[in-house]
Amino acid sequence: MIKILFYDVKPYDIPGFEKFGKERGIAFKFLESHLNHDTASLAKGYDGICVFVNDKIDKEIIDELYQNGVKLIALRSAGFNNVDVKAAFGKIHIYRVPAYSPYAVAEHAMAMLLTMNRRTHKAYIRTRDYNFSLNGLTGVDLHNKTVGVIGTGKIGKIFIDICKGFGMNVIAYDKFPNPNYDLEYVELEELFKRSDFISLHCPLTEENKHLINKDTIKLMKKGVGIINTSRGGLVNAIDLLDGIKERHVGFACLDVYEEEGDLFFEDRSGHILDDDTLRSLIAMPNVLVTAHQAFLTEEALFNIADTTTKNIVDFFNGNNNSNEVCYLCGNQENCKRKRKEKCF
Ligand code: NAI
Repeated sequence: MIKILFYDVKPYDIPGFEKFGKERGIAFKFLESHLNHDTASLAKGYDGICVFVNDKIDKEIIDELYQNGVKLIALRSAGFNNVDVKAAFGKIHIYRVPAYSPYAVAEHAMAMLLTMNRRTHKAYIRTRDYNFSLNGLTGVDLHNKTVGVIGTGKIGKIFIDICKGFGMNVIAYDKFPNPNYDLEYVELEELFKRSDFISLHCPLTEENKHLINKDTIKLMKKGVGIINTSRGGLVNAIDLLDGIKERHVGFACLDVYEEEGDLFFEDRSGHILDDDTLRSLIAMPNVLVTAHQAFLTEEALFNIADTTTKNIVDFFNGNNNSNEVCYLCGNQENCKRKRKEKCF
């Protein structure tokens, strides 16, 4: 049996991981705690650990895990910006789930856009109180509006197809444009200037941190709607709040938030929220915050458990598996993964 310590478990994770664990010879120990400096030592005696997006895995934690004999970090997510992949290189192998349901995330992005545009969040509350007034609920037709999509990978492409279904004009920016897509790729500045709505579907990297900031917001149309289902760090939340207060940003849909780490995925009702920026954003009538929920469909949970357990088994059985990541990945000369080898 392969022994894996599973951090940050939620009730919806357990059925899938128990099923695939049993079938594939993995014994999971489920822990509710996040992985952090206090809980890293619990991994002693395990072959690997399984973590999610808000488990921060820095150099110190990597070193402690390594000294305790942990050989594998199996991420239950696509993004791996929470892991110091450079520090892990040569010590612990890192695997991720590159896609579990791009439909789930793209559909959630559109659900948020539709909600904020047509104020269904307000209508829901009003009619429960028998308030049938329509005042203040006016939206716009999405048909013929321009949506700017940043990142045209798996999720971005599906979101684009959904937008096209609504008769929207799509423009896009990607660091690596896909020549096979029939898409109008533009530079970022042009995208900011022309878009009625902007949806983020690129990974968070050092170069695009705070891509949405006071300067880029200034370039945008007055009334622009911003949708972020990607990573919180892509948006400077204070600048976004200012843009909203100045009535320049028409609405914001945030499924992710830069400082979400200790908040999202947990029930904090009854607690005082120390984060003034998040509190102010939530208080705005034209901001919709969901707590990193975009992925949460039955299909995605099934696929996450399936791929993560396959990654674990492949690693320990020495099978080829392209879901390993390291800081050299993508680098033409050095990337061993491209040659179907382990990263080190
Ligand atoms: P993907 O890897 O298929 O596509 C990402 C695209 O972004 C690629 O086309 C890539 O060329 C492009 N890109 C890379 N760097 C860029 C940059 N600096 N500027 C513009 N484009 C850039 O990834 P996928 O599956 O479409 O996921 C996109 C993001 O969605 C993930 O990185 C993750 O952060 C987020 N995500 C959020 C979830 C949620 O529940 N809210 C769930 C799953 C993913």
